[in-house]
Amino acid sequence: MPTPALRRAWPACARGLTALALCAATALAQAVQVDLRPEQPGPVIARHIYGQFAEHLGTGIYEGLWVGPHSPIPNRRGWRIDVVDALKALKVPVVRWPGGCFADEYHWRDGIGPRDQRPVRVNTNWGGVAEPNAVGTHEFFDLVEQLGTEAYVNGNLGTGSAQEMSEWLEYMTSDGTGTLARQRRANGHEAPFRVHFFAVGNEAWGCGGNMKPDYYANLYRQAATFLKAPRGNRPVLVASGGNGEDLAWTEVLSREVKPNLMQAISHHRYTLPTDSWSKKGAAVGFPEAQWISTLVVPQKIDANLAKHREILDRNDPKKRIGFYFDEWGSWYDPEPGTNPGFLVQRNTLRDAVLAALHFHVFHKHAERVRMTNIAQMVNVLQAMVQTRQDRLVLTPTYHAFEMHVPFQDATFVPVVLQDNPAYARDGMEMPQLSASAARSADGRLVLSLVNANPRDALELDLRVGGQAARAVQGRVLTAAAMDAENGFDQPAQVLPRPIEARVRDGRLTLSVPAKSVVVLTVEP
Ligand code: AHR
Repeated sequence: MPTPALRRAWPACARGLTALALCAATALAQAVQVDLRPEQPGPVIARHIYGQFAEHLGTGIYEGLWVGPHSPIPNRRGWRIDVVDALKALKVPVVRWPGGCFADEYHWRDGIGPRDQRPVRVNTNWGGVAEPNAVGTHEFFDLVEQLGTEAYVNGNLGTGSAQEMSEWLEYMTSDGTGTLARQRRANGHEAPFRVHFFAVGNEAWGCGGNMKPDYYANLYRQAATFLKAPRGNRPVLVASGGNGEDLAWTEVLSREVKPNLMQAISHHRYTLPTDSWSKKGAAVGFPEAQWISTLVVPQKIDANLAKHREILDRNDPKKRIGFYFDEWGSWYDPEPGTNPGFLVQRNTLRDAVLAALHFHVFHKHAERVRMTNIAQMVNVLQAMVQTRQDRLVLTPTYHAFEMHVPFQDATFVPVVLQDNPAYARDGMEMPQLSASAARSADGRLVLSLVNANPRDALELDLRVGGQAARAVQGRVLTAAAMDAENGFDQPAQVLPRPIEARVRDGRLTLSVPAKSVVVLTVEP
C-alpha cells in the first residue's frame, strides 16, 4: 500500500493506475507537509541571537579587523573598510569583546591613551604572541559605531578585581566630573560610551579561574554590587555560566543570585565532530559520518536547553534572567601550517548548515535565549569573514547569517511538519528536514529550512494555517560537495541563489536540494 503521504502526493499511485516502479521511485521523494501557524505566535526572537564575538586571538582582531590608521589596507580609523562593510550586511546586533579566555587577563588601563605608549603584553592563552594593546576601549567602541551594533564588554574577574571592573565601567559610562570620566574625555571621547552588556569573567569553570559554581556565585555577587552606571546606561549584567551539557552553573547561579544583580547567565557549547578535544576532526575532507556527527549536535543542544529552562523557570518564574549562548559554533583541528593557538579553520557548507540548525534551536527557545554569540566574527573558528593580507572571503557561515537577517526581532511562528523522513547514518539519526518560521519585524512570514541529508532532495508541500500557501520567494545555499568552501581563489563556490516553488493541483510545492539551507518569504 502506498503511504498516506504518497497517496496525497501522487493520487495515481493511490488509485493503482501507475506502474509500481514509478510509485516506488516517487516514494523516495515523498512530499513533507510544512504548515506554518501564524495564528499561534510565540516569543520575539531577539536580534541579539545573531550576535558576534571578537576576541584578541590570532588574527581575529589584529590583521582581520584592525590594521591601524597608517596601513596601506584601506581603513577607517584603523578598522578595515572591506571587513566592516561586509559585516554591516549581517546587521550585527551585538559584539562581545575582548574575550573569551583573553578577558580574564585583560587590564583595561593597558588599552587607553596614546597607542604608541601602551604596554605590550603576552597573550598567554592564544599562541603566546605579543599583545600590543593597539585595540582598547576607544577603538572597540569606534568599531561598534562603525558597525552600528551594541557593545558586550567582558570584564576581568580572573586576574582582575571588583574594583578594576567597576572603574572600567565608570570610565566608559560616567557623564560626571570624576577623574575617570575626565580621563575618557582627555582620551578623545566626550560623551559616555553606551555599554549594553557587561559580563563578570569568562568560563570561570576553566580558563577564567577553575572555580566551582558556589565560589563564583559569591565572587559574582560581590563584583556585581559595585558595577554601577548612570541611569539610562546600565548594562545588562551577565554571569559566566557552564559549558556543554553541564547544568550545575545554571542551577547555582539562578538560585543564589537575584535578578537585580544578574540579568543573564551565559553558557558555552562548541561542536566537535568527534566530540574529543584531542582530535576534533577535520574542517574539510571529512567523511559523511562526521557530517552527521556535527549536525546532530543542535538537537542535543535543544534537549539540554529544555533542562536549563526547567531550572530557570523554577528559580526565576518571572523570567527576568536571560540565557545567553555567548560562545557556540564548530571547532575543528587547526588548519595545518598555522599557529595552533590561532584557531584557524576552514569553513564549508557543513558550517552553514550547522549554523542554520543552531538558529532553529535558538528560535525555539527564544523566550529564554535572548542572546547568542558565534565564535568568532573574523578568522577564528567558525568565522563569517576570512582575510589574507588585503583580500577577504565571505564564508558559507556568513551567507547563512545574511539569509537569516529577517529573523532578527521577528515573532516566532510554529511550524508543523508531517511525513518528515529521518536522515540516519553510522548509528546517528536526525530529522531530514528542520524548519523554523517567524513573522518578521516588517510583517512578512519567513521560513527557514534545512535539508540535512547530503544525498537526497526533499519535496515539500507548503501551507499556512492548513491552506496551500500562495507563493514564496527566497534563496537556497547549497553546493555539490559537503565540504564546498569559498577560497581566496574561488570565493563564489557557496553562494545563496534564488529558489522557486511550483503550483500543482492547488498545492505549492518546493524541492529542497540535498545539504541545503533555504530561507523563504511565504505568502499565505
Ligand atoms: O573562542 C575560543 C575560546 O573558547 C574562548 O576564549 C574561550 O572562552 C573558549 O574556551
